Amino acid sequence: MTKDTILITGASDGIGAVYADRFAKRGANLILVARRAERLEALAASLRETGVAVEVIAADLSKADDLARIEARLRDDDAITGLINNAGIAGEQAFTQTDPAYLTGLIDLNILAVTRLSRAVAPRFAAKGAGTLINITSVTALMPDGFTAVYPASKAYVLAFTEALQVELGAKGVKVQAVLPGITRTAIWTAEQIANIPAAMVMDVEVMVDAALAGLDMGEPITIPALPDNADLDAYLAARAALRPNLSLKDAAARYRA
Ligand SMILES: NC(=O)c1ccc[n+]([C@@H]2O[C@H](COP(=O)([O-])OP(=O)(O)OC[C@H]3O[C@@H](n4cnc5c(N)ncnc54)[C@H](OP(=O)(O)O)[C@@H]3O)[C@@H](O)[C@H]2O)c1
Repeated sequence: MTKDTILITGASDGIGAVYADRFAKRGANLILVARRAERLEALAASLRETGVAVEVIAADLSKADDLARIEARLRDDDAITGLINNAGIAGEQAFTQTDPAYLTGLIDLNILAVTRLSRAVAPRFAAKGAGTLINITSVTALMPDGFTAVYPASKAYVLAFTEALQVELGAKGVKVQAVLPGITRTAIWTAEQIANIPAAMVMDVEVMVDAALAGLDMGEPITIPALPDNADLDAYLAARAALRPNLSLKDAAARYRA
């Protein structure tokens, strides 16, 4: 049986590092990508003890040259059977106060890199009728008015993008999952921020990733680790789908007619 090889972005810390640990325990070979090579090497050394092969690639996915290197690898390496688009940043202030250059970097990483890396691997997965694509979005994708401006919008992009890919690639046998973590205890938050959030709203990162993987194993297209009743998500999706027949019609709605 051929071994899985999973490429994980943002594997040097937080959610990505736990995915790396869990996929190593599942026997998958790993390619770990992030900027901090030393942290990746340290994680790789401990994961190799489980008997899997772990390669480290230092890359800043908000930089065009580095992104192109990872794209080429995903496009050309037939051994790669899974991609986890996890690398992402938040950290913006109020929209009117955030440095436009920071917002550009956020969009480059949270949106552009996710799109380009998915595009690099998708044709191979589709042709094979196999493969796993996991995109880490956020519950803020569902509440654009509840956080900052650009981060939730970037995560709403990833959710919409992933749902569209589920239609195109899912039909060809590729597993595509959107994961929407709530507040998860990682370095994306400062210690002060976490201290000011009610503990009942903060999930430990291992709990989050294990729930997301349980959702993957159940074949869920969208996994919200904290949501107690998945019927609430189904109702939301059904309400959205119910709009569809009336979203594009020849006539303007009566309320807009003079
Ligand atoms: N924690 C939460 O509450 C939460 C909630 C919802 C969604 N999420 C999402 O979960 C994902 C992982 O976040 P996390 O909480 O695990 O944060 P984290 O602990 O800060 O980890 C982020 C990872 O992304 C990597 N990264 C950052 N900038 C990068 C760049 N330019 N190029 C390549 N890699 C880069 C970091 O490594 P280097 O610094 O070494 O590059 C690190 O490995 C993100 O997409 C985030 O939006 C998190």
